[in-house]
Amino acid sequence: METLSLFFKRSLPNFFEALPIPDRFVGFADLTAGEWIELLVFAGGVGVVSYSVYHLAASKLSLKCCQLHCNRSCAMNPSIKKDVAKVVDIVEIEDITKEKVSYCRCWRSKKFPLCDGSHNAYNEETGDNTGPIVLKHKQKN
Ligand code: FES
Repeated sequence: METLSLFFKRSLPNFFEALPIPDRFVGFADLTAGEWIELLVFAGGVGVVSYSVYHLAASKLSLKCCQLHCNRSCAMNPSIKKDVAKVVDIVEIEDITKEKVSYCRCWRSKKFPLCDGSHNAYNEETGDNTGPIVLKHKQKN
């Protein structure tokens, strides 16, 4: 721990003090090639650290967003038939008498397994783009 403490208290300030950053903007024109390389290496390091922190924060935020939306875990299904181990709905194709039928894939429909349009509010709220699967009879020629 002492090494880490010394690094942040002594070496790091010395490092920043040694960087060839000019006092004025026009001072960049007077930098040598070696000083430019030193600055570019520093800028690259800052970029790598910033990129890593951003991606780490973004992954943590998306996890929180999902947990907030589901109000518990990141389960896709927030409320439908939660008393069964697996939600399976069987529809006999011959029973589909309408020209087309839409089945829910967002798990928010009040008429599940049929789509009731709830995916629109869900998409608006989350930025997702989910929608139903539509079964329709083939057009006869
Ligand atoms: S309501 Fe779920 S896909 Fe339409």
